[in-house]
Amino acid sequence: MDKFYITTPIYYVNDVPHMGHAYTTIAADILARFHRLCGDDVFFLTGVDEHGQNIERVAMQKGIPEQQYCDAMTEQFVSLWKKLNISYDYFIRTTSERHKKAAQKLFKAIYSAGDIYKGEYEGWYCLPCERFYKESELIDGKLCPIHEKPADWIKEHNYFFALSKYRDKLIEYIMANPDFIQPESRKNEVLSVLKSGLDDRSISRSSVKWGVPVPIDQDSGVLYVWVDALSNYITAIGYGDDPDTLSRYWPADVHIMGKEIVFFHAVIWPAMLMSAGLPLPKKIFGHGWLTKDGKKISKTTGNIINPGELANEFGVDAVRYFFMREYSFGSDGDFTREGFIHRINSDLANDLGNLLNRTLAMVKQNFGEIVPSPDGDSNELDNELINLSIGMLEKVKPLMDKLSFNEALETIWELVRRANKYLDETAPWRLAKEPSNRGRLATVLYNCIETLRFLSILISPFMPDSSLKIQEQIGISETQTFADLEWGKTPHNISLGKVEPIFPRIEVKTKVESKSTEPKTSDSEITIDDFRKLDLRVVEVLSAEPVEGTDKLLLLKIATGSGTRNVVAGIAEYYSPEEIIGKKVILVSNLKPANVRGIESQGMILAATGKNELSIVTIDKDMPLGTKVR
Ligand code: MSP
Repeated sequence: MDKFYITTPIYYVNDVPHMGHAYTTIAADILARFHRLCGDDVFFLTGVDEHGQNIERVAMQKGIPEQQYCDAMTEQFVSLWKKLNISYDYFIRTTSERHKKAAQKLFKAIYSAGDIYKGEYEGWYCLPCERFYKESELIDGKLCPIHEKPADWIKEHNYFFALSKYRDKLIEYIMANPDFIQPESRKNEVLSVLKSGLDDRSISRSSVKWGVPVPIDQDSGVLYVWVDALSNYITAIGYGDDPDTLSRYWPADVHIMGKEIVFFHAVIWPAMLMSAGLPLPKKIFGHGWLTKDGKKISKTTGNIINPGELANEFGVDAVRYFFMREYSFGSDGDFTREGFIHRINSDLANDLGNLLNRTLAMVKQNFGEIVPSPDGDSNELDNELINLSIGMLEKVKPLMDKLSFNEALETIWELVRRANKYLDETAPWRLAKEPSNRGRLATVLYNCIETLRFLSILISPFMPDSSLKIQEQIGISETQTFADLEWGKTPHNISLGKVEPIFPRIEVKTKVESKSTEPKTSDSEITIDDFRKLDLRVVEVLSAEPVEGTDKLLLLKIATGSGTRNVVAGIAEYYSPEEIIGKKVILVSNLKPANVRGIESQGMILAATGKNELSIVTIDKDMPLGTKVR
């Protein structure tokens, strides 16, 4: 069994968690879950960074003891991670006695190696970063480049770490291990900083009280918060008290973090480890920033997206999916609500949701909620779908190895789209009309169910709840891992679970602007612009079933050419489901969805309605689905 040790940064508790923190943590969770499904022995670490001058100051401003403040703020991180389904194995707090002792032990090891000496620091310090800056690094020699706020000038007698001593070794190590710092652009940034020279760094703060006391000198304040924080990656797995666990998991397989703190992880941390005689982490990945209106999401700038609220509104899995699918992990990405809704509607409600709904509706209709046994040989179309399913994990693995989550999802969605196309091409609703095609119908629907099972496993690191719901609906109760990605493992003749939509469409409220300059019309007349507001489309009825509790309504599943929709139509007294299935009809496609007997009806089909008669409007010639009617 391979081990896989993955970490997030530990987050400052000086304010509530926001989407930037959640972004890193969700990514790490996805990778941890992916490796668990591979059968690896995973250790996923996250936690909070509770010490330092900044937190000392915030607690003082609030007039509460630091520990009490940290406890309350930590609770917010813990509960957000619970809500977002974060499956960490250990949550580290730097105020825990275990961590404090082990952090001191690491400091002493570096001291014993002769790499710590006393000196005086005089220079710039950014409090929110908890970071020393050279004047040349500040904007106009004054403002922190991350927070764009004035840095403070400080003068202290501190202990220094002989970082400069490790410059050549670090360059050598980075060159010899091309995957050590990722993505490539960050590696190049680090190398250019190293090549331009490396100064020794202050690693204690004599003027700060809230932290881990310097172990070798009681009157010298506390460890510099970054030294305290970086050591969490080994204190959490037993440096100091559990050598077996430490040697099992260290070195870390990947440290994930935002790009602004890559220097600490790729330079200071490896140098500390070299000094203490410990192996270096295998990979450091510095991802891009989430921005809103082009500005970094950050508590300091007040530019915040609240992940909990987003999850309440759209669902946890929609949030997990969107942020991993929309942006390339190494680059910055700007968030818009419209972009979010569009992505969720098209990928989840339309593509994946429709595949599930269409398949299950047809199984229900034709096989009484029992997964049918495939009957007869597979043809070319079947084999294409089967082979794509079988080969999917091998395509996705290398993308996950390079933390290219968006490409991994894009690749999985090739299968979602292929399966939808397979349904269109095999047209099971037509097969269902001929009893002689029953065997073929069973094969087609079984293949769709099996593809859905494959998809449920492949998406489960990204959307664990939805994955389980899909499995429940297709009747699978055993836990699925990557070892179950074997074609034909869905048992024949099992019963479907309760079938219900998993990814509802998000309704977009659009404002229709009225043009006051237009000539007035009488009440019975409309203008051509009024008419143009109607979006009428040629669609096909895929399936139809009576709506429970009434004999007037049919629930129609409609193919629109770009996906499917549910439409509840008051035609049950005039049409049997068999009569309407397969008909090309006209849909008012931009009608606001309405809830009819608990079902969301997404549009209306046109019909001529007399006193006791009704005739559905169909088209005279065969036209492609989605064609506009005007
Ligand atoms: N406490 C330090 C880290 C110590 S690790 C040994 C720290 N904490 S922090 O609370 O400021 O969190 C920074 C991390 O939060 C970033 O590295 C990144 O992982 C995440 N993000 C915060 N804002 C972000 C964005 N706007 N976009 C993406 N991620 C961001 O630094």
